[in-house]
Amino acid sequence: MAAYRQGKPAPDEAFKLSSNENPFEPIDAILEAIAESSINRYPDGSASAVRARIAQRHGVDIESVHVGAGSVAILAQLIQAAAGSGDEVVYAWRSFEAYPGLVTVAGATSVTVPIDESDGSHDLAAMAAAVTGRTRLILVCSPNNPTGAAVSADAFADFMGTVPRNVLVVLDEAYAEFVTDPTAVSGIGLLDDYPNLVVLRTFSKAYGLAGLRFGYAIGPAYVLDAARTAAIPLSVIEPAQRAAIAALDNEEFLLERVARISALRDEVWRALLEQGWSIPHPQGNFVWFATGEHTAAAAEIFLKHGIVVRALGSDGLRVSIGEAESVGKLLAAAEEVVQNLPTAHARTGLD
Ligand SMILES: Cc1ncc(COP(=O)(O)O)c(C=O)c1O
Repeated sequence: MAAYRQGKPAPDEAFKLSSNENPFEPIDAILEAIAESSINRYPDGSASAVRARIAQRHGVDIESVHVGAGSVAILAQLIQAAAGSGDEVVYAWRSFEAYPGLVTVAGATSVTVPIDESDGSHDLAAMAAAVTGRTRLILVCSPNNPTGAAVSADAFADFMGTVPRNVLVVLDEAYAEFVTDPTAVSGIGLLDDYPNLVVLRTFSKAYGLAGLRFGYAIGPAYVLDAARTAAIPLSVIEPAQRAAIAALDNEEFLLERVARISALRDEVWRALLEQGWSIPHPQGNFVWFATGEHTAAAAEIFLKHGIVVRALGSDGLRVSIGEAESVGKLLAAAEEVVQNLPTAHARTGLD
């Protein structure tokens, strides 16, 4: 197995747009909350204060909330709790790079269903059809990292209607707060309808706490109890718990920043359409370029313009929406790519 690779560090003067991070500095209230932590003591292993706050925020009870050192930790726990040797985990591909490794480490088998190349969306009918007697878990990523497409609420309802109730569905909504498409699914309001659904959220992206590692799941208590059993105890540290509470106390301010990032994303997207790219409306804090076999060459062009991107094999590039000052460079690089890499252009479907 190849080890998980992080986004490349940026050379001096370059913008690191390879990890879908939030470009804004933390607010004072969060820094103050972190400073109040007693780091000579272990954290509250049950994370009761922050779980209560998240439960209140979403109108659920505290037993329906589980927290982890990043939502990826909860993903690992759920996969380990639900699937083992001989079991199958279904997910779309391309999707979040961590999925294949987490499934393999759990001893289970990945069953991947190709993303619809025309719009980067999940083929949920094909994913439901891929369920066998061995399927334990299905991962649905909306908006999808890296293609940016969100699953529609209607398509998700149809899908949940066909998936057997003994198969766990994990809806990974790491980028939910950036979604502006009103037809997109939002999982938390659906939890009462489906006893086999868990929704994953994170403070890494919208709330700018990637470095503190704090994510959460909302779902049925009996499923989350299984995840808690598979968790490494005490891995969610007190500074992260305190920072998450401070972020929720200042949510309106932080979500206004999120709205600015989404607006910048839309500006970038429209400019790319004008350059000749055919990219479906992205719903996360990143843009996907289907550069195919030219991906490595295109990544070099972006780097030459001072933009570090995430190059994903021979499928494409993912570029985060970061500092406003990076946008000119991003667009200059994209223009050079679309002008000089004809096959990449062809893959956009515009010829
Ligand atoms: C789709 C998706 N899910 C989960 C994560 C993990 O986020 P974290 O572990 O920082 O909460 C990421 C991070 O990039 C992601 O893109």
